[in-house]
Amino acid sequence: MTFVVTESCIKCKYSDCVEVCPVDCFYEGKNMIVINPDECIDCGVCEPECPVEAIKPESEDLIEMIEVNRKYANAWPKITEKKEPLTDAEQYKNESDKFKKHFDPSPGS
Ligand code: SF4
Ligand code: F3S
Repeated sequence: MTFVVTESCIKCKYSDCVEVCPVDCFYEGKNMIVINPDECIDCGVCEPECPVEAIKPESEDLIEMIEVNRKYANAWPKITEKKEPLTDAEQYKNESDKFKKHFDPSPGS
């Protein structure tokens, strides 16, 4: 089992989640963070840290998103320290369909 970062993270990237992970399995894209499902130990401590509730436990509904997390965890750099959220995070935090509209496959920096 794994936890998964959902599209609510896109355009926000608050990054509170990354500091609490005991196995450092978060990876950073330009406008989203993902969890490597092959490294996550299913501890759940990151879930309540996200201010937009973007982190969810594995479920049938999230199979595609787990594969997105896996694919980009293997392409993006590791992130272990909190950063400032994205500039427009407040504006985008309640938007729906963010993956379709705003997902950016570019790596974070
Ligand atoms: Fe890390 Fe635990 Fe969150 Fe998995 S559930 S990403 S191991 S903090
Ligand atoms: Fe994203 Fe929430 Fe972490 S917005 S970066 S999953 S704290």
